[in-house]
Order: sequence, then C-alpha cells, then structure tokens
Amino acid sequence: MLRYLSVLPLLASSMMGADEPVIYDEAKVPSYTLPDPLRFENGEPVKTSADWPKRRAELLGLFEAHVYGKTPVGRPAGMHFEPRKKIDSFLGGKATLEEIRIHFREGDDGPFVDVLLIKPAKPAVGGAPAFVGVNFTGNHGVHPSTEITLSTAWMRESNEPEKKGQVIDHRSTEASRGNQASRWPLAMIVDAGCALATFYYGDIDPDFDDGFENGIHALFGKPGPAEWGSIGAWAWGASRVMDYLETDPAIDSKKVAVMGHSRLGKTALWAGAQDERFAMVISNNSGCGGAALSRRRFGERVGRINTSFPHWFADTFHQYNENEAALPVDQHQLIALIAPRLVYVASAVEDEWADPRGEFLSAVHAGPVYELLGKKGLGVKEMPELNAAVGESIRYHIRSGKHDVTDYDWEQYLKAIAGL
Ligand code: GCU
Repeated sequence: MLRYLSVLPLLASSMMGADEPVIYDEAKVPSYTLPDPLRFENGEPVKTSADWPKRRAELLGLFEAHVYGKTPVGRPAGMHFEPRKKIDSFLGGKATLEEIRIHFREGDDGPFVDVLLIKPAKPAVGGAPAFVGVNFTGNHGVHPSTEITLSTAWMRESNEPEKKGQVIDHRSTEASRGNQASRWPLAMIVDAGCALATFYYGDIDPDFDDGFENGIHALFGKPGPAEWGSIGAWAWGASRVMDYLETDPAIDSKKVAVMGHSRLGKTALWAGAQDERFAMVISNNSGCGGAALSRRRFGERVGRINTSFPHWFADTFHQYNENEAALPVDQHQLIALIAPRLVYVASAVEDEWADPRGEFLSAVHAGPVYELLGKKGLGVKEMPELNAAVGESIRYHIRSGKHDVTDYDWEQYLKAIAGL
C-alpha cells in the first residue's frame, strides 16, 4: 500500500521498534508533554469561545495531515437511498425493522452500504434518538433473526490481521447469524425509546491491506499520503448513514450518537470529530489511535499499529512510529474536537492493550476546551472505581472485564443519550 517511497526507511525502523517489549507497567511510561488544545500553533492562546472555531479548524487539519488523512469528499453526487425491506413487527412487536441500501453513485452497480435500522414501534413525537453503530461481522451478526439479510460481502474470520498475501475470502453462513448479538442489545435499546442504525464496516472498506483497490477508495481514486485510510473511510460511512437518518421523520436527527468498539471506536471518534451533526460520540475500548494518549506508549504503540494495520491511518502517520513525541497532536485533542457535544470514553480493566489510563487521561485533558465552551467535563482528575461512571459532557467509565461491549456499557450510553 506504500503510497510514497520516502516512507520506506521509516517503516524499516518502525519494524525494529515493533519488537520492543510492550509497556504494561505505569513506572515505565516515559515523561511527556502534551500539546495544548487551547494554544494556536503560532503560540497564541485561545482566550474565548469565539476563538475556538479557528483553533478547531487548525486541529482538524493537523489530524487530517498527520494521523487519519483527509477525507476527500462529503456526500457524493449520485448517492441515493434504496429501501429494501420493512417489517412492522420485530422483537415481538416492540420494534420495526428496515433495510436500506445507500448507493454511492447513480444506478445500482456501484459501491454501497447496507443499513439495518431498528426503531421502537412507537417512536417519540419528534422522533427517536438513535445510535449509528458500526459493526464487525455484518448486519446479520447483531441478532440471530433470519429476517435480517445475510451479508454477502467480504468477511474476516476473526479479528486478527491476515498474514501478508493470505487474504482469505470468508463469506458469511447461516451459522454466523447473531455472532455478535451480545454487543448489540436491541431490546434494551428500543425499550429505552431509541433506534439503532447499524452497518458493516467491510461494506465501506474491507479491512485488509490491498493498496486501496476495493471499497470506497476505488470510487474516489487511490489516496495520497495524507489522505484517508480505512478508518477515514469507515468514519465517512457513518456520516452517510447520518445523511439517511436525516430523511427519516421517525428519527430525531438532533439526537444521534455514533458508536463503535475498538478499531470502530477509533472510527466513531474520528467521525464525530469531523461531522458535527453527531450530538454524541461513543468510544468503546478504542485504544491506540482512538482515545488513548499516544505519548504514553502504554500497550499498543503507534509503530505497532502502523505495522500490523498499515491501511488504517494516513501514510504520514507512519513517520511517528517510535517517535510519538514528534506528533503535532495527541488524542486528547481529538476528544476536544467533539466539544461541546457529549463524548463518552469507555474502558475495560482487562483491556491493557488499549491503555485504559491513557483513555481516561485524554478525557481529562480535553476538559479545558469543554469548560471554555461553558460545559462541564469529567469533574474528576483521578480514575474512578470500577463500574462507576463519571462526568457530564465528557463521560468515562472503566468496567470490569475484558475488551468487549457489554450490557453495562450500553446502560451507560442509554442514560447519556436520554440526557441530550
Ligand atoms: C487490534 C488492534 C487494536 C484494535 C483491535 C480491534 O487489537 O491492535 O488497535 O483496537 O484490534 O479493533 O479489535
């Protein structure tokens, strides 16, 4: 996927660095200085809320140029929605089910994303609040019902990266229905009066390093070194689903949260940072390149993620392999880009690879931006106890257990969206 050759020597050095022992000991975290979200790049302070839009644009530009790459387009010409299925009674009558295909160009032979939309049977007047949830295993993975169309897209067998040259095309079978149902408690979501619009990330860009031949990149041309990788593409997909939700009167488009887990938590943060229509952004165990501070180097590091998943970020991000201190930004500034909207950062105590403390500290250090904009952030400087959510416009919890999405996580997200 190398988009420019000057990256080569840097990659070689990063591969050496990738073998360094992973830091899992707080005492081994290096000392670091975080870049200040409230100081312009020329050193001038951001004094009032009126200065923030300019600083926000500057930070967004830095994340585009150095981390995720610039997203070349918004809504493409020719994009259109094709309703494909509607079932008025789902989940024993408490919900409706719809399937909508979003085509990204005229006609029906171009790339598309399939959206599964589950709504409460009786949405509130003014529409139901909704989650745009990015899924790992196809829409049919969120619930065992045979009413949900089985994805025929490329599918990874597991979450592990494929070995170079060994991309195996795993198609879904009936047996895969509901294989991630525990992460998508549909009944709990509709009982809370909310809707879920979910899509399979592989519809937007199959998650392997193919030089951007397939997926949405194929439609817009090969990305340059500072243009979108796969995370940028998946985030763009979430915004296109939002485009659809804005057309549905049964959805309150002013109360839409974007939610993702792990690599899709990184995606949710980047989607929410760019697209201010999302009123709430949920990072579930997003880790390195998501909520965790890169400069801490705890758990997964920049060099490691760029080596294992060279297609996720912009090529320019690779120059920071084993050199996090040189990054012009850190991930607390990504959280700050969501201000003053609600952001929820969730960790799991056994998920050390994702650096729970680094995720918490990002939430802490985004606080001054929220305060400048008249909002209350976390309200604490020390990590809370397990399973004890804290914060207002920035929220955080660390739950017991491993890297996953659980009912505890969803209970907190439902409480948060209810307050919008
Ligand atoms: C790997 C990767 C993480 C990522 C995770 C996931 O563990 O190193 O950065 O968050 O996969 O998406 O499941």
